[in-house]
Amino acid sequence: MDCRKFIEEQVAAIKKAVGDGTAINALSGGVDSSTVTVLGHKAIGKNLKTIFVDNALMRKGEPKQVVRIFADMGIPVEMVDAKDEFLSALKGLTDPEEKRQAITDTFYSKVFSRLVKKHKAKFLLHGTILTDIEETVAGIKRQHNILEQIGIDPKEAFGYPVLEPLKTLRKDNVRELARQLGIPAEITERIPFPGPALAARIVGEVTEERLETVREATDIVEEELAESGAFQYLAVLLNDYATGIRNNKREFGQIIVVRCIESVDAREATATELSWGKLNQLCERITQIKGVNRCLYDLTPKPPATVEYI
Ligand code: XMP
Repeated sequence: MDCRKFIEEQVAAIKKAVGDGTAINALSGGVDSSTVTVLGHKAIGKNLKTIFVDNALMRKGEPKQVVRIFADMGIPVEMVDAKDEFLSALKGLTDPEEKRQAITDTFYSKVFSRLVKKHKAKFLLHGTILTDIEETVAGIKRQHNILEQIGIDPKEAFGYPVLEPLKTLRKDNVRELARQLGIPAEITERIPFPGPALAARIVGEVTEERLETVREATDIVEEELAESGAFQYLAVLLNDYATGIRNNKREFGQIIVVRCIESVDAREATATELSWGKLNQLCERITQIKGVNRCLYDLTPKPPATVEYI
């Protein structure tokens, strides 16, 4: 791919669409939204308002880390606290698609339409990539950021139009583009993390307490497997309980699944052959989390499993 040409074309297209108005974009810290942020900033500078929405579903320390990385690149990011809004939208929901839908609705219809009005933005800049569109259109999974391609007119549904500069690219091209744009390796080489964030790793209801458990487990898995070279690794909280013993007392505890996969583009995947020593180390640390007394390693390939659990 000719990155320079792509950057030139997209910068020109954003400039032309937005003119001297303002645009807004949501930054999650993933490679797609980070790339869009830098492209948008190149095109319209301070007329791009970049927002990091704290939706309560992010990993440990993630909101502050993302804001810091962009501040270092000279791009200001406004942090918006929407934790309570997301948690109340997810309250009581257990069906995977309903949970995804609740996150989409809260994000676009509530938080973002409010921010678009506040900033008088003409457009929302969006990091949708080709794979998101293909999987959603094929009915495999409703990626939370797909709108127009499944017949939702964002202008009509949410009150603002969307620009999607990356919609013809796959992940490897986006990473290449991100490197070319000078985005640091802690973002460009980051393992994939889903839009619905830790909510994709909780089977059953998403509550503050359950988020805390999966967040702690995620932190351990990411630290232990950072050097594994695997495509992606994650922790999942199941909706089941099992009997265990702690401090010589019976405990009905929670179960964490560790998943670590080899893949090229996440369309197919196989479990990584981790060493017995590493698996034991993971198990030992994860069962120290409050209320967790079992840790399982998932061997299932994709298909028939998916990578995430919702
Ligand atoms: P699945 O679970 O469908 O995941 O096998 C394939 C890859 O996509 C990521 N994933 C998502 N990414 N929004 C995203 O941006 C989503 O809604 C979403 N769901 C899954 C997942 O982490 C894996 O890398």
